Amino acid sequence: MKRITMTGLVIVGVDGSAAAAAAVEWAADDASRTGAELRIVHALDRHPYNIAGVVALGPEDVLLRGAAKVLEAAEAIARSRQPTVQVVPQLVEGRPADVLQEQAQQADELVIGDRGLGGFTRALLGSVTMKTAGQAPCPVVVVRAGSRERIGEIAVGVDDSDSCEPAIAYAFAQAGLRGATLRLIHAWQVPVHAFAPEIYFDVDEIHATRHEMVRERVAPWEARHPEVELVEDVQNAHPVDALTGTACDLLIVGSHGRGAFGSLLLGSVSRGVLHHASCPVAVVRGRT
Ligand SMILES: Nc1ncnc2c1ncn2[C@@H]1O[C@H](COP(=O)(O)OP(=O)(O)OP(=O)(O)O)[C@@H](O)[C@H]1O
Ligand SMILES: [Mg+2]
Repeated sequence: MKRITMTGLVIVGVDGSAAAAAAVEWAADDASRTGAELRIVHALDRHPYNIAGVVALGPEDVLLRGAAKVLEAAEAIARSRQPTVQVVPQLVEGRPADVLQEQAQQADELVIGDRGLGGFTRALLGSVTMKTAGQAPCPVVVVRAGSRERIGEIAVGVDDSDSCEPAIAYAFAQAGLRGATLRLIHAWQVPVHAFAPEIYFDVDEIHATRHEMVRERVAPWEARHPEVELVEDVQNAHPVDALTGTACDLLIVGSHGRGAFGSLLLGSVSRGVLHHASCPVAVVRGRT
């Protein structure tokens, strides 16, 4: 079982959008639960403005002033939400996904919105979100705009590969901090067997072995967190449907890291969950 080294630092990325404001609130709440410092990061990307003849910057650096305003507004949200949390605003020049990736090296978790100010209006997730969730070295929590009622339950996706272990560890820690029930969701499906209808599956037996797999996988964390109440939820369903089908305060999945390029580091289930969940989603990178 892997131990998690805590750095006592939560980072939230802001761009002035409603989703980023919701991310600041989530991050402030979590920093308050763990006693961590909250660093609010805004990446100032001059690149889109560097088209000669299109934008003539005056003597005053208007981009810098705009960036400072974004940070100030985010800082005010964090301070009014959690006055006791130590808040440090930070302006960094560079492309947002690169800046957040670099910052994440030092953090316990990185919190971002599902989308931002820019973007293609019909896209379900912003490009910074997709890239960051796929490659950040720490857990990435993706938050949507809008307020939510507390349900008192969080959920984690458990499969039969070791790659979900960091997600399970994060889930137990979160459930312990929140005093929340932890729902362990495992979805299984029989292969489509239209061409071999004679193949017979004993559904009860599959359910029993899957319950056993889930119990074995969480046993080491259960021993460390006896205070966390568990609900085992084994379903014959597509994993994205199973994971997004029950209302909860936080949904935790592994990232299924596979290779070295961009959003392909996110497995199809993690991607589907990020697209379709209505609650905050934590993507926790597996060992690669
Ligand atoms: N410049 C930035 N600095 C810090 N964090 C950022 C920045 N831009 C985006 N983010 C973070 O990423 C989240 C998602 O924004 P993203 O930029 O991916 O979406 P978008 O603007 O809708 O689309 P796109 O930028 O791909 O056109 C934001 O809510 C914010 O948390
Ligand atoms: Mg953007």
